[in-house]
Amino acid sequence: MTYEHLDEEARQILRDNDRGIYTVPTSGLYPYQWNWDSAFAAWGFSTFDNNRAWVELETLFASQWEDGMVPHIIFHRQVPEYFPGPDVWGVDHTPPTSGISQPPIAATMARAVYESDKAAGRARLEGLFEGLLNWHRWFMQARITDGLCCVTHPWESGRDNAPDWDSSMANVDTSMVGEYKRRDTSHVNNDMRPTKQQYDQYLALLYFSRDCGWDIDTINEKSPLRVADPGMHFMLLRAHRDLLWVAGELGKPDGAEIQGWIDSMVESAEKFWNEDGGYYDSINMRAGEFTHTLSCASFYCWYAGIDETRMVPHLERILGSVKYPVPSVDPARPDFDHIRYWRGPLWCMANSQIGAGLAEMGYAELAEKVRLGTRAVIADQGFAEYHSPVDGTPAGGQHFTWTAAVWLTFASPQAKGGF
Ligand code: GLC
Repeated sequence: MTYEHLDEEARQILRDNDRGIYTVPTSGLYPYQWNWDSAFAAWGFSTFDNNRAWVELETLFASQWEDGMVPHIIFHRQVPEYFPGPDVWGVDHTPPTSGISQPPIAATMARAVYESDKAAGRARLEGLFEGLLNWHRWFMQARITDGLCCVTHPWESGRDNAPDWDSSMANVDTSMVGEYKRRDTSHVNNDMRPTKQQYDQYLALLYFSRDCGWDIDTINEKSPLRVADPGMHFMLLRAHRDLLWVAGELGKPDGAEIQGWIDSMVESAEKFWNEDGGYYDSINMRAGEFTHTLSCASFYCWYAGIDETRMVPHLERILGSVKYPVPSVDPARPDFDHIRYWRGPLWCMANSQIGAGLAEMGYAELAEKVRLGTRAVIADQGFAEYHSPVDGTPAGGQHFTWTAAVWLTFASPQAKGGF
Protein backbone atom coordinates (compact mmCIF):
# COMPACT_ATOMS: atom_id res chain seq x y z
CA MET A 1 0.00 0.00 0.00
CA THR A 2 1.25 3.49 -0.77
CA TYR A 3 0.41 6.45 1.38
CA GLU A 4 1.69 9.47 -0.57
CA HIS A 5 -1.84 10.59 -1.42
CA LEU A 6 -2.56 10.80 2.30
CA ASP A 7 0.47 13.04 2.85
CA GLU A 8 -1.00 15.42 0.31
CA GLU A 9 -4.51 15.12 1.72
CA ALA A 10 -3.20 15.94 5.20
CA ARG A 11 -1.40 19.05 3.96
CA GLN A 12 -4.57 20.08 2.16
CA ILE A 13 -6.63 19.74 5.35
CA LEU A 14 -4.23 22.06 7.16
CA ARG A 15 -4.44 24.55 4.31
CA ASP A 16 -8.25 24.33 4.19
CA ASN A 17 -8.56 24.90 7.95
CA ASP A 18 -6.03 27.74 7.89
CA ARG A 19 -7.67 31.11 8.63
CA GLY A 20 -4.49 33.10 7.97
CA ILE A 21 -2.98 33.47 11.43
CA TYR A 22 -4.68 30.57 13.17
CA THR A 23 -6.14 27.19 12.22
CA VAL A 24 -9.64 25.98 13.13
CA PRO A 25 -9.90 22.35 14.33
CA THR A 26 -12.49 21.82 11.58
CA SER A 27 -14.90 24.23 9.95
CA GLY A 28 -18.49 24.27 11.21
CA LEU A 29 -18.23 22.39 14.49
CA TYR A 30 -15.22 24.38 15.82
CA PRO A 31 -14.96 27.81 14.12
CA TYR A 32 -12.33 29.39 16.44
CA GLN A 33 -8.77 28.81 17.64
CA TRP A 34 -8.37 26.07 20.23
CA ASN A 35 -5.21 26.01 22.34
CA TRP A 36 -3.82 22.48 22.07
CA ASP A 37 -5.31 21.94 18.61
CA SER A 38 -3.18 24.90 17.51
CA ALA A 39 -0.06 23.41 19.04
CA PHE A 40 -0.66 20.22 17.04
CA ALA A 41 -1.35 22.31 13.94
CA ALA A 42 2.02 24.03 14.37
CA TRP A 43 3.72 20.65 14.57
CA GLY A 44 1.96 19.59 11.37
CA PHE A 45 2.82 22.82 9.53
CA SER A 46 6.47 22.41 10.52
CA THR A 47 6.70 19.51 8.04
CA PHE A 48 6.06 21.75 5.04
CA ASP A 49 5.74 25.43 6.04
CA ASN A 50 7.97 26.38 8.94
CA ASN A 51 6.98 30.04 8.98
CA ARG A 52 3.28 29.16 9.19
CA ALA A 53 4.02 26.86 12.13
CA TRP A 54 5.52 29.76 14.11
CA VAL A 55 2.64 32.07 13.20
CA GLU A 56 0.19 29.56 14.73
CA LEU A 57 1.98 29.62 18.10
CA GLU A 58 2.55 33.38 17.96
CA THR A 59 -1.17 33.99 17.43
CA LEU A 60 -1.98 31.75 20.39
CA PHE A 61 0.38 33.61 22.69
CA ALA A 62 -0.83 37.01 21.50
CA SER A 63 -4.02 36.22 23.49
CA GLN A 64 -2.23 35.28 26.70
CA TRP A 65 -3.82 36.85 29.75
CA GLU A 66 -1.83 39.25 31.89
CA ASP A 67 -1.56 36.67 34.67
CA GLY A 68 0.08 34.19 32.26
CA MET A 69 -2.93 32.01 31.42
CA VAL A 70 -3.24 31.00 27.77
CA PRO A 71 -6.95 30.49 27.07
CA HIS A 72 -8.48 27.34 25.66
CA ILE A 73 -10.51 29.16 22.96
CA ILE A 74 -9.77 32.45 21.23
CA PHE A 75 -12.83 33.93 19.55
CA HIS A 76 -11.18 35.71 16.64
CA ARG A 77 -14.46 36.51 14.91
CA GLN A 78 -18.20 36.52 15.50
CA VAL A 79 -19.90 33.18 14.79
CA PRO A 80 -23.41 33.56 16.21
CA GLU A 81 -24.26 29.92 15.58
CA TYR A 82 -21.54 28.68 18.00
CA PHE A 83 -22.49 27.90 21.60
CA PRO A 84 -21.18 28.74 24.22
CA GLY A 85 -19.68 31.81 22.55
CA PRO A 86 -17.87 34.87 23.94
CA ASP A 87 -20.99 36.45 25.45
CA VAL A 88 -21.51 33.36 27.62
CA TRP A 89 -17.91 33.32 28.87
CA GLY A 90 -18.04 37.03 29.71
CA VAL A 91 -14.26 37.56 29.53
CA ASP A 92 -13.11 41.12 28.96
CA HIS A 93 -10.31 40.59 26.45
CA THR A 94 -9.57 41.52 22.83
CA PRO A 95 -10.16 39.31 20.98
CA PRO A 96 -12.54 37.64 23.45
CA THR A 97 -11.43 34.34 24.96
CA SER A 98 -12.73 31.55 27.17
CA GLY A 99 -11.79 31.68 30.86
CA ILE A 100 -9.95 28.37 31.28
CA SER A 101 -6.81 26.88 29.76
CA GLN A 102 -6.01 23.58 28.01
CA PRO A 103 -3.21 20.99 28.01
CA PRO A 104 0.05 22.97 27.99
CA ILE A 105 1.83 21.29 25.10
CA ALA A 106 2.95 24.48 23.31
CA ALA A 107 6.52 24.34 24.70
CA THR A 108 6.86 20.78 23.41
CA MET A 109 5.60 21.78 20.00
CA ALA A 110 7.68 24.99 19.90
CA ARG A 111 10.76 22.87 20.50
CA ALA A 112 9.71 20.46 17.72
CA VAL A 113 9.10 23.31 15.29
CA TYR A 114 12.45 24.84 16.20
CA GLU A 115 14.28 21.55 15.75
CA SER A 116 12.79 21.18 12.27
CA ASP A 117 14.71 24.31 11.20
CA LYS A 118 16.96 25.82 13.85
CA ALA A 119 18.41 28.63 11.76
CA ALA A 120 15.00 29.96 10.76
CA GLY A 121 13.47 29.39 14.18
CA ARG A 122 15.87 30.85 16.72
CA ALA A 123 14.45 34.37 16.76
CA ARG A 124 10.88 33.03 16.76
CA LEU A 125 11.63 30.71 19.71
CA GLU A 126 13.27 33.60 21.52
CA GLY A 127 10.12 35.65 20.92
CA LEU A 128 7.90 32.97 22.50
CA PHE A 129 10.08 32.08 25.47
CA GLU A 130 8.78 34.59 28.04
CA GLY A 131 5.17 33.75 27.18
CA LEU A 132 5.81 30.04 27.57
CA LEU A 133 7.63 30.54 30.86
CA ASN A 134 4.83 32.73 32.23
CA TRP A 135 2.21 30.20 31.21
CA HIS A 136 4.09 27.43 33.01
CA ARG A 137 4.45 29.67 36.07
CA TRP A 138 0.70 30.28 35.96
CA PHE A 139 0.03 26.54 35.95
CA MET A 140 2.33 26.00 38.92
CA GLN A 141 0.58 28.74 40.85
CA ALA A 142 -3.05 28.33 39.75
CA ARG A 143 -3.51 24.63 39.09
CA ILE A 144 -1.16 22.69 41.34
CA THR A 145 -2.60 21.35 44.61
CA ASP A 146 -0.59 18.93 46.78
CA GLY A 147 1.91 18.78 43.92
CA LEU A 148 -0.72 17.52 41.44
CA CYS A 149 -1.96 19.29 38.33
CA CYS A 150 -5.71 19.84 38.61
CA VAL A 151 -8.52 21.01 36.37
CA THR A 152 -11.40 23.24 37.37
CA HIS A 153 -13.50 22.40 34.32
CA PRO A 154 -13.57 19.17 32.26
CA TRP A 155 -12.97 21.23 29.10
CA GLU A 156 -9.60 22.30 30.47
CA SER A 157 -8.34 18.70 30.39
CA GLY A 158 -9.05 18.34 26.66
CA ARG A 159 -10.98 15.14 27.52
CA ASP A 160 -14.37 16.75 27.90
CA ASN A 161 -16.72 13.94 28.92
CA ALA A 162 -14.20 11.42 30.30
CA PRO A 163 -15.46 9.34 33.26
CA ASP A 164 -12.75 10.98 35.43
CA TRP A 165 -15.11 13.89 36.08
CA ASP A 166 -18.29 11.94 36.83
CA SER A 167 -18.08 11.78 40.62
CA SER A 168 -17.36 15.53 40.88
CA MET A 169 -19.93 16.45 38.28
CA ALA A 170 -22.60 14.69 40.30
CA ASN A 171 -22.26 17.55 42.84
CA VAL A 172 -22.74 20.31 40.30
CA ASP A 173 -26.06 22.07 40.78
CA THR A 174 -27.65 22.63 37.36
CA SER A 175 -30.90 24.17 38.56
CA MET A 176 -29.94 27.67 37.38
CA VAL A 177 -28.73 26.70 33.90
CA GLY A 178 -32.03 27.38 32.16
CA GLU A 179 -32.82 26.95 28.49
CA TYR A 180 -30.12 27.00 25.82
CA LYS A 181 -29.62 25.64 22.35
CA ARG A 182 -26.67 23.32 21.78
CA ARG A 183 -24.93 23.73 18.44
CA ASP A 184 -22.57 20.75 18.49
CA THR A 185 -25.40 18.27 17.91
CA SER A 186 -26.49 20.07 14.74
CA HIS A 187 -23.09 19.11 13.23
CA VAL A 188 -22.62 15.66 14.75
CA ASN A 189 -24.87 12.78 15.86
CA ASN A 190 -26.12 12.90 19.44
CA ASP A 191 -24.64 9.51 20.27
CA MET A 192 -21.13 10.77 19.46
CA ARG A 193 -21.31 13.77 21.82
CA PRO A 194 -21.71 14.40 25.58
CA THR A 195 -25.19 13.94 27.04
CA LYS A 196 -27.63 16.76 27.86
CA GLN A 197 -27.01 16.26 31.58
CA GLN A 198 -23.25 16.62 31.08
CA TYR A 199 -23.76 19.74 28.99
CA ASP A 200 -25.87 21.29 31.77
CA GLN A 201 -23.06 20.56 34.21
CA TYR A 202 -20.40 22.09 31.93
CA LEU A 203 -22.47 25.26 31.71
CA ALA A 204 -23.17 25.40 35.45
CA LEU A 205 -19.43 25.16 36.12
CA LEU A 206 -18.68 27.80 33.51
CA TYR A 207 -21.25 30.17 35.07
CA PHE A 208 -19.82 29.50 38.52
CA SER A 209 -16.29 30.56 37.53
CA ARG A 210 -17.53 33.47 35.44
CA ASP A 211 -19.57 34.74 38.36
CA CYS A 212 -16.41 34.59 40.50
CA GLY A 213 -14.88 36.96 37.93
CA TRP A 214 -12.45 34.12 37.01
CA ASP A 215 -10.67 34.76 40.32
CA ILE A 216 -8.28 31.85 40.81
CA ASP A 217 -8.32 31.77 44.62
CA THR A 218 -12.11 31.80 44.82
CA ILE A 219 -12.43 29.09 42.17
CA ASN A 220 -9.79 26.95 43.86
CA GLU A 221 -11.54 27.23 47.16
CA LYS A 222 -15.19 26.98 46.15
CA SER A 223 -15.70 25.33 42.77
CA PRO A 224 -17.51 21.98 43.08
CA LEU A 225 -15.02 20.48 40.65
CA ARG A 226 -11.33 20.11 41.26
CA VAL A 227 -9.84 16.96 39.82
CA ALA A 228 -6.17 16.04 39.70
CA ASP A 229 -5.63 14.69 36.20
CA PRO A 230 -2.66 12.50 35.27
CA GLY A 231 -3.07 13.64 31.65
CA MET A 232 -2.55 17.29 32.55
CA HIS A 233 0.16 16.44 35.05
CA PHE A 234 2.15 14.37 32.56
CA MET A 235 1.73 16.87 29.73
CA LEU A 236 2.84 19.77 31.92
CA LEU A 237 5.80 17.76 33.19
CA ARG A 238 6.80 16.91 29.62
CA ALA A 239 6.42 20.54 28.59
CA HIS A 240 8.60 21.65 31.53
CA ARG A 241 11.33 19.33 30.25
CA ASP A 242 11.09 20.85 26.77
CA LEU A 243 11.03 24.36 28.20
CA LEU A 244 14.16 23.56 30.19
CA TRP A 245 15.83 22.39 26.98
CA VAL A 246 14.76 25.61 25.25
CA ALA A 247 16.08 27.73 28.13
CA GLY A 248 19.44 25.98 27.79
CA GLU A 249 19.49 26.41 24.03
CA LEU A 250 18.77 30.14 24.33
CA GLY A 251 21.08 30.67 27.31
CA LYS A 252 18.27 31.83 29.61
CA PRO A 253 18.82 32.10 33.38
CA ASP A 254 15.57 30.30 34.32
CA GLY A 255 16.83 26.71 34.26
CA ALA A 256 16.94 26.19 38.03
CA GLU A 257 13.33 27.30 38.47
CA ILE A 258 12.12 24.93 35.74
CA GLN A 259 14.23 22.07 37.05
CA GLY A 260 12.61 22.58 40.46
CA TRP A 261 9.16 22.14 38.90
CA ILE A 262 10.29 18.98 37.13
CA ASP A 263 11.72 17.43 40.28
CA SER A 264 8.62 18.16 42.33
CA MET A 265 6.22 16.89 39.67
CA VAL A 266 8.16 13.66 39.15
CA GLU A 267 7.97 13.04 42.88
CA SER A 268 4.28 13.84 43.25
CA ALA A 269 3.29 11.79 40.16
CA GLU A 270 3.37 8.70 42.37
CA LYS A 271 0.30 10.02 44.21
CA PHE A 272 -1.70 9.27 41.06
CA TRP A 273 -0.87 5.59 41.45
CA ASN A 274 -4.00 3.69 42.44
CA GLU A 275 -2.76 0.52 44.15
CA ASP A 276 -6.11 -1.25 43.83
CA GLY A 277 -6.19 -1.16 40.07
CA GLY A 278 -2.44 -0.77 39.65
CA TYR A 279 -2.53 2.24 37.31
CA TYR A 280 -2.31 6.05 37.20
CA ASP A 281 -5.75 7.37 38.13
CA SER A 282 -7.43 10.75 38.48
CA ILE A 283 -8.26 12.05 41.94
CA ASN A 284 -11.43 13.87 42.94
CA MET A 285 -9.73 16.42 45.19
CA ARG A 286 -12.96 17.55 46.86
CA ALA A 287 -13.70 14.02 48.03
CA GLY A 288 -10.05 12.93 48.36
CA GLU A 289 -10.81 9.80 46.31
CA PHE A 290 -9.55 8.11 43.19
CA THR A 291 -11.99 8.17 40.29
CA HIS A 292 -11.15 4.60 39.16
CA THR A 293 -10.45 5.53 35.56
CA LEU A 294 -7.86 3.72 33.51
CA SER A 295 -7.78 6.02 30.49
CA CYS A 296 -5.48 7.06 27.67
CA ALA A 297 -4.18 9.73 30.08
CA SER A 298 -2.84 6.97 32.35
CA PHE A 299 -0.51 6.01 29.48
CA TYR A 300 1.05 9.50 29.23
CA CYS A 301 3.64 8.51 31.88
CA TRP A 302 6.27 7.66 29.24
CA TYR A 303 5.65 10.92 27.38
CA ALA A 304 6.42 12.64 30.71
CA GLY A 305 9.81 10.93 30.82
CA ILE A 306 8.89 8.40 33.53
CA ASP A 307 10.20 4.91 32.86
CA GLU A 308 7.15 2.98 33.96
CA THR A 309 7.08 -0.79 33.53
CA ARG A 310 3.95 -1.22 35.66
CA MET A 311 1.70 0.23 32.95
CA VAL A 312 2.95 -2.10 30.21
CA PRO A 313 0.65 -5.08 30.93
CA HIS A 314 -2.41 -2.79 30.85
CA LEU A 315 -1.42 -1.42 27.48
CA GLU A 316 -0.72 -4.90 26.08
CA ARG A 317 -4.06 -6.20 27.30
CA ILE A 318 -5.98 -3.20 25.92
CA LEU A 319 -4.22 -3.24 22.55
CA GLY A 320 -5.02 -6.94 22.32
CA SER A 321 -8.72 -6.30 22.85
CA VAL A 322 -9.37 -3.70 20.11
CA LYS A 323 -8.70 -3.36 16.40
CA TYR A 324 -7.06 0.08 16.58
CA PRO A 325 -5.08 1.75 19.42
CA VAL A 326 -5.51 3.47 21.99
CA PRO A 327 -9.07 3.62 23.37
CA SER A 328 -9.71 6.66 25.54
CA VAL A 329 -10.97 4.45 28.36
CA ASP A 330 -10.39 0.82 29.23
CA PRO A 331 -12.69 -1.30 27.01
CA ALA A 332 -13.15 -3.67 29.96
CA ARG A 333 -15.32 -1.05 31.70
CA PRO A 334 -19.01 -1.94 31.58
CA ASP A 335 -19.86 1.61 30.44
CA PHE A 336 -17.27 1.64 27.62
CA ASP A 337 -18.90 3.31 24.60
CA HIS A 338 -16.78 2.92 21.46
CA ILE A 339 -18.31 5.90 19.67
CA ARG A 340 -19.00 8.51 22.37
CA TYR A 341 -16.24 11.10 22.43
CA TRP A 342 -13.90 10.55 25.42
CA ARG A 343 -15.73 7.50 26.77
CA GLY A 344 -14.16 4.96 24.43
CA PRO A 345 -13.03 6.31 21.04
CA LEU A 346 -9.40 6.60 20.07
CA TRP A 347 -7.91 10.01 19.34
CA CYS A 348 -5.02 10.02 16.91
CA MET A 349 -3.30 12.97 18.53
CA ALA A 350 -3.31 11.20 21.92
CA ASN A 351 -1.79 8.20 20.13
CA SER A 352 1.06 10.39 18.91
CA GLN A 353 1.89 11.41 22.47
CA ILE A 354 1.63 7.89 23.86
CA GLY A 355 3.55 6.40 20.92
CA ALA A 356 6.32 9.00 20.99
CA GLY A 357 6.65 8.57 24.75
CA LEU A 358 6.94 4.79 24.44
CA ALA A 359 9.62 5.14 21.76
CA GLU A 360 11.60 7.64 23.81
CA MET A 361 11.54 5.38 26.87
CA GLY A 362 12.74 2.35 24.88
CA TYR A 363 9.49 0.40 24.46
CA ALA A 364 10.09 0.06 20.74
CA GLU A 365 7.64 -2.76 20.01
CA LEU A 366 4.69 -1.13 21.74
CA ALA A 367 5.58 2.22 20.21
CA GLU A 368 5.51 0.68 16.76
CA LYS A 369 2.13 -0.93 17.44
CA VAL A 370 0.67 2.44 18.36
CA ARG A 371 2.24 4.13 15.36
CA LEU A 372 1.18 1.49 12.83
CA GLY A 373 -2.31 1.30 14.31
CA THR A 374 -2.65 5.07 13.96
CA ARG A 375 -1.48 4.82 10.36
CA ALA A 376 -3.99 2.05 9.70
CA VAL A 377 -7.02 3.79 11.17
CA ILE A 378 -6.38 6.98 9.19
CA ALA A 379 -5.63 5.05 5.98
CA ASP A 380 -8.76 2.91 6.45
CA GLN A 381 -11.16 5.52 7.78
CA GLY A 382 -9.85 9.01 7.06
CA PHE A 383 -8.99 12.16 9.00
CA ALA A 384 -11.85 12.16 11.50
CA GLU A 385 -11.82 13.94 14.85
CA TYR A 386 -11.81 10.53 16.61
CA HIS A 387 -12.54 6.89 15.71
CA SER A 388 -14.02 3.76 17.19
CA PRO A 389 -11.16 1.54 18.39
CA VAL A 390 -13.43 -1.47 17.83
CA ASP A 391 -14.15 -1.08 14.11
CA GLY A 392 -12.60 2.28 13.13
CA THR A 393 -15.89 4.11 12.54
CA PRO A 394 -14.93 7.74 11.91
CA ALA A 395 -16.70 9.98 14.43
CA GLY A 396 -17.22 13.63 15.36
CA GLY A 397 -15.98 16.22 12.86
CA GLN A 398 -14.25 15.29 9.60
CA HIS A 399 -11.33 16.90 7.76
CA PHE A 400 -9.77 17.42 11.16
CA THR A 401 -6.66 19.52 11.79
CA TRP A 402 -4.91 17.53 14.50
CA THR A 403 -5.53 14.20 12.81
CA ALA A 404 -3.92 15.63 9.66
CA ALA A 405 -1.02 17.08 11.68
CA VAL A 406 -0.41 13.78 13.40
CA TRP A 407 -0.43 11.98 10.07
CA LEU A 408 2.39 14.24 8.83
CA THR A 409 4.47 14.14 11.99
CA PHE A 410 3.81 10.70 13.47
CA ALA A 411 1.75 8.24 11.45
CA SER A 412 2.84 8.55 7.80
CA PRO A 413 5.75 6.38 6.63
CA GLN A 414 7.41 9.72 5.71
CA ALA A 415 6.93 11.09 9.23
CA LYS A 416 9.66 11.44 11.81
CA GLY A 417 7.43 9.48 14.20
CA GLY A 418 8.05 11.59 17.28
CA PHE A 419 9.32 14.89 18.56
C1 GLC B 1 -13.24 18.97 21.98
C2 GLC B 1 -12.08 18.16 22.53
C3 GLC B 1 -10.93 19.08 22.88
C4 GLC B 1 -10.55 19.88 21.66
C5 GLC B 1 -11.75 20.61 21.02
C6 GLC B 1 -11.44 21.20 19.67
O1 GLC B 1 -13.74 19.86 22.91
O2 GLC B 1 -12.47 17.39 23.63
O3 GLC B 1 -9.84 18.35 23.37
O4 GLC B 1 -9.54 20.79 21.95
O5 GLC B 1 -12.81 19.70 20.84
O6 GLC B 1 -10.97 20.21 18.79
